[in-house]
Amino acid sequence: MPRSCLVVGGSRGIGRAVAEELRAAGDRVAVTYRNGSPPDGLFAVRCDVTDTAEVDAAFRAVEAEQGAVEVLVVNAGIVQDQLLAAMPEHRFTEVLDTNLTGAYRVVKRAVRGMLRRRGGRIVLVSSVVALQGSAGQANYAASKAGLIGFGRSLARELGPRNITVNIVAPGLTETDMTARLAPELLAEYLRQVPLGRMAQPAEVARAVGFLASPGAGYVTGAVVPVDGGSSMGH
Ligand SMILES: NC(=O)c1ccc[n+]([C@@H]2O[C@H](COP(=O)([O-])OP(=O)(O)OC[C@H]3O[C@@H](n4cnc5c(N)ncnc54)[C@H](OP(=O)(O)O)[C@@H]3O)[C@@H](O)[C@H]2O)c1
Repeated sequence: MPRSCLVVGGSRGIGRAVAEELRAAGDRVAVTYRNGSPPDGLFAVRCDVTDTAEVDAAFRAVEAEQGAVEVLVVNAGIVQDQLLAAMPEHRFTEVLDTNLTGAYRVVKRAVRGMLRRRGGRIVLVSSVVALQGSAGQANYAASKAGLIGFGRSLARELGPRNITVNIVAPGLTETDMTARLAPELLAEYLRQVPLGRMAQPAEVARAVGFLASPGAGYVTGAVVPVDGGSSMGH
């Protein structure tokens, strides 16, 4: 039976690749998008994760189209890089509000249906910088490390209800987010990557697809790095 999947932040980059991966596995997949036009070929609803009412409306639209969400992938994320000494407070709180509180809003809404159905899969997209830190990314790293504590707590809370919660921590991945990096900075980052290259979005999507698959039924609270060896697993 195809499952009802929702990828939050599925319009492009890693989220888009995750949506394609889940669809290729035979599931029904909806995505959210925020700006611009919806992606071709996928059921898409507009949603800004900083707005609880928009999150609720998006879930209602997805539920009407394909039933209660059984697989949730929380992928929406932004960066606003700056050294701490120069970082205004709003750049810290905006990143936290999207990347971490946004996850709280979305997961809380999804869990309602999962508890009723006594089962579900949740995958949170964190980052290797949550594990390693990154100069100029204190806001982003704090949000992504927060996702790990959030996800592991939920793995404990929701495990007895047959809901798994896992975290994927990608390293440098070739998307719009990294296209903005200065070439010298990118080269410096790549020197830290044992595999010596960026990930393709589809490579990250494979890990998410596994965690969402029946084969990962006994995996919960895990942090899965897809980072070319940068973090050596932790
Ligand atoms: N690329 C990397 O190297 C890398 C490494 C580690 C982790 N990650 C994480 O992977 C995830 C995807 O990154 P990406 O590289 O694919 O980035 P991307 O191409 O910039 O895509 C970001 C996605 O997040 C959505 N989004 C941003 N703010 C949102 C908001 N307030 N409400 C709803 N959706 C929002 C965007 O929607 P719109 O298109 O509508 O703006 C888009 O779908 C992010 O969480 C990122 O932090 C990326």
